[in-house]
Amino acid sequence: MPTLKVSDESIRQAAQTVSNGGLVAFPTETVYGLGGDAFNPVALAKIFEAKGRPRFDPLIVHIADLGALETVADLSLLDTAARKNLSLLSENLWPGPLTLVLPKRQAVPDLATSGLPTVAVRLPAHETARRLIALSTGAVAAPSANPFGYLSPTMAEHVAQTLGDKIDLVLDGGPSRVGLESTVVDLCNGRPTILRPGGTPGEAIEALVGKVDAGGFADRGAGQLAGSLPSPGMLKSHYAPRSPLTVHEGESLYALSPSEEGGAAFLFFDGASRRAWASSFKRSSKGETAGTTIAVLSETGDTVEAAARLFQTLHELDRLNPKRIHAQLAPEHGLGPAINDRLRRAGSRE
Ligand code: TXA
Ligand code: MG
Repeated sequence: MPTLKVSDESIRQAAQTVSNGGLVAFPTETVYGLGGDAFNPVALAKIFEAKGRPRFDPLIVHIADLGALETVADLSLLDTAARKNLSLLSENLWPGPLTLVLPKRQAVPDLATSGLPTVAVRLPAHETARRLIALSTGAVAAPSANPFGYLSPTMAEHVAQTLGDKIDLVLDGGPSRVGLESTVVDLCNGRPTILRPGGTPGEAIEALVGKVDAGGFADRGAGQLAGSLPSPGMLKSHYAPRSPLTVHEGESLYALSPSEEGGAAFLFFDGASRRAWASSFKRSSKGETAGTTIAVLSETGDTVEAAARLFQTLHELDRLNPKRIHAQLAPEHGLGPAINDRLRRAGSRE
């Protein structure tokens, strides 16, 4: 499985591979995708196989321009209000980290949508992704390029390390800018519903279409019947490092000292929290930081920067094999809800 730096030549080669039914990992602005021809059931089956992904978890179909939307989605099945919401969201937030769930066209095999009558569609902002899609079949199904349940890949190395020889080619376009998967919004059921918080903040969506439902990402146990999940991929345990991870609300992390938590890693949302934590245990002379790994997602507390660093930092911490990762939750604005969603799932072992 060669890793090739992005160039005209490597993009053409990747597009050829997709057209021939092969699998290619490629950069997007959110995370790296594991792409195959969205119209080819054999390619789709290979995607599920390579990831070890359950068949009930549908894929996102990526297009290169708005004109291609109707090749995968049947917009005639939307009511007037839904059509208006679609125009507002697609015209203002595409290309970008937003996925829209729409009525499916028959041309899209049932395997892509796990038998659902709807299809999730995304128009990515990443130039390489769009060129690859346009030069291949115009519709590329791509989940995140990680083994099912593991941390999402934001660098080509993450893909190479975890999916090894299961794919034909990896296109290396450097680190993903956004660092979190797209926000998934269902437009098929009355009021728009956020099924997965992600790289487009809820505020940006509500500014365009008004109040949205967020029912989709309430805690869902993996034991629940797949058919009853609003977004089948939203299992409670997901995006997980190999080390156990505990999430901490706000200041609850300050009670932990490095000496009592020997061999642990601490992941702070911002620099101010890390300093407050350090001074709290120093005052009570509970110990020092030897053997403890400390990471900060954003020194200044910027949720966009924190999101961009989240998976990369978790990959780095996980490689050090800490006994446990203690992670502080982000504030609930901007990309905070998406960061917290990933951290809570990473911390869930059900
Ligand atoms: O940013 C992203 O969205 C990345 C990049 C590669 O584009 N892709 C990604 O795909 O995160 P994946 O497969 O890891 O996540 C797809 C999510 C899952 O939660 C899945 O359940 C949901 O989208 N989904 C797909 N089709 C759906 C449908 N028809 N109805 C409801 N949810 C759907
Ligand atoms: Mg994924």
